[in-house]
Amino acid sequence: MILTVGNTKGGVGKTTLAVNIAIARALAGSDVLLVDGDEQGTSVAFTELRTEKLGEPGYTAVSLQGGAIRTQVRQLASKYDDIVIDVGGRDTGSIRAALLVTHKLLVPVQPRSFDLWAMYQVAELVKEARELNTDLAALALLNIADSQGRDNEEALEAVREIEGLQMLGVTIGRRKAFPNAAAAGRSVLEQSPKDAKAVEELQAVIRAIYN
Ligand SMILES: Nc1ncnc2c1ncn2[C@@H]1O[C@H](COP(=O)(O)OP(=O)(O)OP(=O)(O)O)[C@@H](O)[C@H]1O
Ligand SMILES: [Mg+2]
Repeated sequence: MILTVGNTKGGVGKTTLAVNIAIARALAGSDVLLVDGDEQGTSVAFTELRTEKLGEPGYTAVSLQGGAIRTQVRQLASKYDDIVIDVGGRDTGSIRAALLVTHKLLVPVQPRSFDLWAMYQVAELVKEARELNTDLAALALLNIADSQGRDNEEALEAVREIEGLQMLGVTIGRRKAFPNAAAAGRSVLEQSPKDAKAVEELQAVIRAIYN
């Protein structure tokens, strides 16, 4: 399955989720390709760090931008069990290309108004892509959610009103385990001491996407 983790908004946790999902799939036995569609190259940099720390990353990572995402991913699709594409917050050329070849789009969104506004832009891109990629699924995920307050409920309601996006019933909280694990070149699944809540939330998200 080809999964794109994307949003036109930056800093919402795209790379964090892309690498955690790629590693989780690899740990579960899949042959995984991680495509870094962001010129910043954060997924590739993470993979280099991971390779330094662990000896080998456990998946293949490549950097592709713009139209090359479409042509190369099509070419590579049959060679991997799972492809995860991380597309950065600015380059809509890369996002548009990814949306033409992906089966599912995962859109991390923080429960904040600016982030919610960007969801309308994402919904528009999805709508355009569906003219060619008719079965494209678009799943919104509340990420970096605070456990206190009404923000989460309000964000869930707001996204549910946007046509063309499906809001995942599971949410990922603001958990220090994600940056901590990333700094060590690991997923939260591999980090010790283990943050049971982070692990549980990530696995619930993966089940929701892949089942
Ligand atoms: N669930 C989470 N809990 C706590 N911190 C998180 C969580 N998800 C992401 N972060 C942190 O938020 C910051 C932004 O995450 P990340 O770099 O993955 O976002 P991005 O959408 O890829 O950003 P960019 O648009 O710059 O590519 C990072 O410091 C990351 O560690
Ligand atoms: Mg990123």
